[in-house]
Parts: sequence; structure tokens; C-alpha cells
Amino acid sequence: MQHIEIPFDQLNLNVFQFWKDSLLLTAGENQPGKFNTMTIGWGSLGVIWGFPMALVMVRPSRYTYEFMEKSTSFTITAFEPRYQEVLSLMGTRSGRDLDKVAASGLTPVPSTKIPAPGFAEARLILECEKIYNDDLVVTALEESALKHYRDGDFHRIYLGRVVAVLKAAGQA
Ligand SMILES: Cc1cc2nc3c(=O)[nH]c(=O)nc-3n(C[C@H](O)[C@H](O)[C@H](O)COP(=O)(O)O)c2cc1C
Repeated sequence: MQHIEIPFDQLNLNVFQFWKDSLLLTAGENQPGKFNTMTIGWGSLGVIWGFPMALVMVRPSRYTYEFMEKSTSFTITAFEPRYQEVLSLMGTRSGRDLDKVAASGLTPVPSTKIPAPGFAEARLILECEKIYNDDLVVTALEESALKHYRDGDFHRIYLGRVVAVLKAAGQA
């Protein structure tokens, strides 16, 4: 699929639906074995420090976490519902054990402004420059959030400045 860059403030989406549909988070460089991808469902889009920003949350147990730590960038990619099986695979298997990109049939494509790749099949690609990360303050978590951490593995929060928004050509 061809992608066209649009200004971030012309991105027309329902942010709650966007996260509900599941997305892929990809960090690393666009060379075989140098990036990893996983499904994400928790995050946010907004404006911080005057920049369009994306927030993602990654547990340290994820292989993707290693790439988030050593990378300067990441992409968030959204797909049509027919890719549900791919999102399932990316969210249930680890890149430590399987070449998930080969297994999924997705085609990595170079980003326009960052090292982390997107995917040709994505309906939307957000290119993000990692500019901040932080860990949860455990004592500040209310029970409704704490219940997600019975086994530890507390998410690390990453904030990325959205430096490019790419839409599949022909998408509304
Ligand atoms: C719908 C869905 C949403 C998910 N959201 C997140 C998330 O926001 N953060 C996270 O750390 N893991 C999340 N996961 C779990 C990872 O995608 C999963 O553990 C994956 O296998 C990690 O792959 P990796 O080891 O190759 O990084 C989600 C899984 C699914 C199925």
C-alpha cells in the first residue's frame, strides 16, 4: 500500500476506538533482526510540551522492551480488521522465539524521518521520536490499576514525539 504524509492536525480519528482496535508497536532499525514488533492496546495520543505526542506502555518482559530501550524511535501502526490474526500473532508470540514478521507476512517499510520501520499493509503509520521514558510509581497506583501487576512486570511509559503521520492512499 502506498502511504501519503498528512499534517498531524488533519488526522481524523476517534482516539478511544484507535486504541481499542489494537495496534503494532515497532522499535529498532529497518534491517532483519534489528527491530521487533508487538501488539499494543494501551496508550494515548495528545499534545505535550507543544508537540503532538504518543504514549505507549511496555512491560520489561517483552522482547520489544529491549528495542525500545536502545532505540531513538518507534512506530505505531494501525490496520484494517482483516489483519486481526496478524495482531493476535504479534500479541501472543515473542520475537525471542519466532521471526514474527516472516510468520505474519507483513512487509516492513522504511520510515520517512526515523530509523524504526512501518509496515506496507498498515492503514496508518505514526513515526515517533522517543523523547522521554518513566516508570510507574507503584505506591501511587490505585487498586484498579494495581490489579494488573500481581506478578510485578510494571510497564515502562515511553513518550514519543509524532514526527510524521502517514495514511494509506485512498483512506478516508
Ligand atoms: C490486544 C493486545 C494488546 C496488548 N497490549 C500491550 C501493551 O500495551 N503493552 C505491553 O507491554 N504488552 C501488550 N500486549 C502483550 C504483547 O503484545 C505480547 O506479550 C507480545 O507477545 C510481546 O512480544 P515480544 O516479546 O516479541 O515483544 C498486548 C497483547 C494483546 C493481544
